[in-house]
Amino acid sequence: MRVGILTGGGDAPGLNAAIRAVARSAFADGAEVLGVRNGWAGLLGAGDVWPIEPPDVSGILVRGGTILGTSRVNPMSEAGAMDTVAANLSQLGIDALVAMGGDDTLSVAASLAERGVPVVGVPKTVDNDLQVTEYCIGFDSAVAIVTEAVDRLHSTAASHHRVMVVEAMGREAGWVTLMGGLAGGADMIVIPEFHVDMEAVVEHLHKRGERGRTYSIIAVSEGAEVGGLAAPSGGDEPRDAFGHVQLSRRGIGERLGRQLESDTGFETRVTVLGHTQRGGTPTAYDRIWATRVGAAAYNLIRDGNFGKIPVKLGDSVQTAALSEVVAEPRLVPEDLYRLAQVFY
Ligand code: F6P
Repeated sequence: MRVGILTGGGDAPGLNAAIRAVARSAFADGAEVLGVRNGWAGLLGAGDVWPIEPPDVSGILVRGGTILGTSRVNPMSEAGAMDTVAANLSQLGIDALVAMGGDDTLSVAASLAERGVPVVGVPKTVDNDLQVTEYCIGFDSAVAIVTEAVDRLHSTAASHHRVMVVEAMGREAGWVTLMGGLAGGADMIVIPEFHVDMEAVVEHLHKRGERGRTYSIIAVSEGAEVGGLAAPSGGDEPRDAFGHVQLSRRGIGERLGRQLESDTGFETRVTVLGHTQRGGTPTAYDRIWATRVGAAAYNLIRDGNFGKIPVKLGDSVQTAALSEVVAEPRLVPEDLYRLAQVFY
């Protein structure tokens, strides 16, 4: 049997651990492995693949990024491109494909599965917004980076008696901001799921001042909007091949920080964490669960259980349909958001 592996969308710490798990499980079974370069782009044109040998996956457990490369190329947006992907898979003799990605990559996989292409998925996104699964590769590492940033901002904020605004990733889901803010003890958390007005933020900062707090940390998600805040300048917003706006360009952190300084008179600084949240070594948790879902993805292939994806439910790996996990984004529930407010 020949297994193809592809990583698509934004990279995430832990992807290499999952690639290693699929490859090692395949080698143990006597199967061959082909690496597809740069996401779906590697299955367009004449195809861009290379045979993965055991030394290729040696020492990659701790490495960030993806040895396969990635892209946001979307074959569903180009006429005939899905046919090319399917034709390339059979021409390259790939008996089964493991697609590692978030909702974009996995919706392509789900659509291929509907056409009868033998494909399985692996859940990966620092945004943590896939349905069903309680685990997506990269989320834990991203939260660790936000937490460390909030920790570090605390001491400098306290020394200078400043307001610190820290902007985190996550698109329409506030998971990274909320969990990082909760773990780091942020004094206010602003995420897309729950609307907040400028007035409420200003009032909260004044109240903290009245309580003798000489500094505050506000964690804000790139996709959040704050009522009463001037819209981002710049007109048309560029979109990627899946139709997503590059949210970091909206500059919510910077806009919020500037407005807060002028409304409150409190000296304010802004930190945009950006792609630091996706770089560097994966946490132990990401390495372990990426290994578990990677190995489980190979087992799905071995059993001919296509159109599926391993998911984490409780402490076990279970199986869901690809179409289920991409149905709609999984958003932060109200109880978690309210929990964070207890500590403001
Ligand atoms: O989906 C993962 C993610 O990191 C989002 O949180 C963020 O909005 C986006 O990717 C950034 O994408 P790019 O790497 O293309 O700038």
